[in-house]
Amino acid sequence: MNRDIATTVPALDAEEDASANPSTEPTLGDVIAYRLSRREWLTGALAVAVMGTAVAPRAVAAAEQPPSDPPADTGRFRFPEVSAGVDATHHVAEGYDAEILIRWGDKVLPDALPFDPANPSASAQSRQFGYNNDYIGFIPFDGRSDHGLLVVNHEYTNDELMYPGHPHEASRKDIINALSEPLVRASMQAHGGSVIEVKRVEGRWQVVDGSRYARRITAETEMEITGPAAGHDLMKTSADPAGTRVRGMINNCAGGVTPWGTWLTCEENFNFYFGNKIAADASRHAAALSRYGVPGSESYPWSRYEPRFDIGQEPFESNRFGWVVEIDPLDPTSTPKKRTAMGRFKHEGAGNIVNKDGRFVVYQGDDQRFDYVYKFVTEGVVDPENRAANKDLLDKGTLYVARFDADGRGTWLPLVADEPALANFADQGQILIQTRLAADALKATRMDRPEDVEVDPRTNKVFVILTNNDKRGVGNDPDPDAANPRRINTFGHIIELTPDRGDHAATGFRWEILLKCGDPAIAEVGATFHPATTGNGWFGMPDNCAVDAEGRLWIATDGNTKDKTGRTDGLWSLETEGAERGRSRLFFRAPTGAELCGPCFTPDLETLFLAVQHPGESETEVAATFENPATRWPDFKDGIPPRPSIVVITKRGGGKIAS
Ligand code: FEO
Ligand code: CA
Ligand code: CA
Repeated sequence: MNRDIATTVPALDAEEDASANPSTEPTLGDVIAYRLSRREWLTGALAVAVMGTAVAPRAVAAAEQPPSDPPADTGRFRFPEVSAGVDATHHVAEGYDAEILIRWGDKVLPDALPFDPANPSASAQSRQFGYNNDYIGFIPFDGRSDHGLLVVNHEYTNDELMYPGHPHEASRKDIINALSEPLVRASMQAHGGSVIEVKRVEGRWQVVDGSRYARRITAETEMEITGPAAGHDLMKTSADPAGTRVRGMINNCAGGVTPWGTWLTCEENFNFYFGNKIAADASRHAAALSRYGVPGSESYPWSRYEPRFDIGQEPFESNRFGWVVEIDPLDPTSTPKKRTAMGRFKHEGAGNIVNKDGRFVVYQGDDQRFDYVYKFVTEGVVDPENRAANKDLLDKGTLYVARFDADGRGTWLPLVADEPALANFADQGQILIQTRLAADALKATRMDRPEDVEVDPRTNKVFVILTNNDKRGVGNDPDPDAANPRRINTFGHIIELTPDRGDHAATGFRWEILLKCGDPAIAEVGATFHPATTGNGWFGMPDNCAVDAEGRLWIATDGNTKDKTGRTDGLWSLETEGAERGRSRLFFRAPTGAELCGPCFTPDLETLFLAVQHPGESETEVAATFENPATRWPDFKDGIPPRPSIVVITKRGGGKIAS
């Protein structure tokens, strides 16, 4: 999520994006030396970078020569570009079909009731597809690309759009605050995730009805807490005095799939769900609560009906959220496991790779302004022959946080108990429960809201998506630095990180900025798209990304609007190699109000699954509502609100996407 509440309700926007990182230590922003990438030197594009503003000459060139005729296809992607814009529906490149696979409220479990938006209920929702689909993972059966499982996160709810009967011209916050208990309970069931079996029959994808794998995970599903923080005093509650079991996962944003076929699903803005500020200030871990933004300002009124979300009554319940959850979708009776070794923060995703020594490495962003980029390296190695041997691989390993130095080098700093800077932490469990505080102590680099981090296994390059940070260099907030070079970074940027020796377990790396986003026709924006990028081809606010089977990078966005960029969110291809490095093109565009999530390709590259999240959401302070949504995508029927949906894209006549 993020933009969602953000653009609708400024008050909540401030809360959501507000950095809870209070450190005043000097950062790289205090280092005036800006680094020029080797590429910029080679192209003679001397970066004119002044503290607080950075205008790349390439962007100036683009402004002087706005692209007119589409340039020849000389890069790695082949498709006719979509026109950028804003309207009520989705658009895909010509020659492709984009069909709705499953929508919020559709049947998941065999006994699910039909979608009936006029009569919402928790019991109906608990068997239907949840709201705000985000991450999508495809787990093929026997390596096939036409049959497998889709695992889908349901990040959060737009209650103002889901349920009828809201007052006219109310704000989203007012509507959510007025929710009755039955609706809150329905929304709790709309969170979590879904497992569905999907199959391509005579060219068309369908959800397999009555699949034995079908499963709903919700904010009530029983889960196990594993790893070094399991059983820690800071994890104990009245319902769970052992600190090893928890009900539910919430705000699951992006994720990953492991080579052994499990689903990593990442809890992001969990703080929103906790209430009761007065007790928080008096509690035993006030500094940590504050650093994590707990409690939220009752963005969701769950604590009114569920005492465990009231931190006055359960001071440590919030410590049991903010983790990476591992779920085995092949066993519908398996208990999801919160893997505490991977740290606790607002996890965006879990891009991963098997390192050349066999250890498993997971890259992770903490999506908050001025927060950090992490990686986790397992102690043991992946056993490709024996699935069961990898069962608890994620319980032992080392969590690192990144420091980006101004000379283009970087260091992964280990969050381990024997680090002198972490002497104040009682044990490894506390370091992990309070990961952000430990990373502060190690003086990691404060970034412009890290979202997805994904690896290209062919080149070992790692792409770090930084969505935006409109407080960079403002007031007392940190100044620009080498890795976050733009003051008021409205449009975000992408860093390319190269591990030393191609070793993802190494503590050293090189980095350079791959792309600064925004409109290249406006020189002051300082965007650095390749000049061949058209007026449709540029984007702002990158969020999720995917590296496809040919090593090509795709970027999904969150935050493009009519007012900000004159376009909806969408999916763009981005060249990362060769003469066209930095050229992007629009492949798919979402309906108004929506954010685009989950780009996921089948191994044969013939199918692309996309998640359209919060279609119809308002871009102003007045909420779009059930009765007055900004669009009724995808059904376009009176009385049916907009429905977050999975879109499946195939090439007409067959073949690989964008080839
Ligand atoms: Fe849920 Fe960081 O987007
Ligand atoms: Ca986002
Ligand atoms: Ca996201």
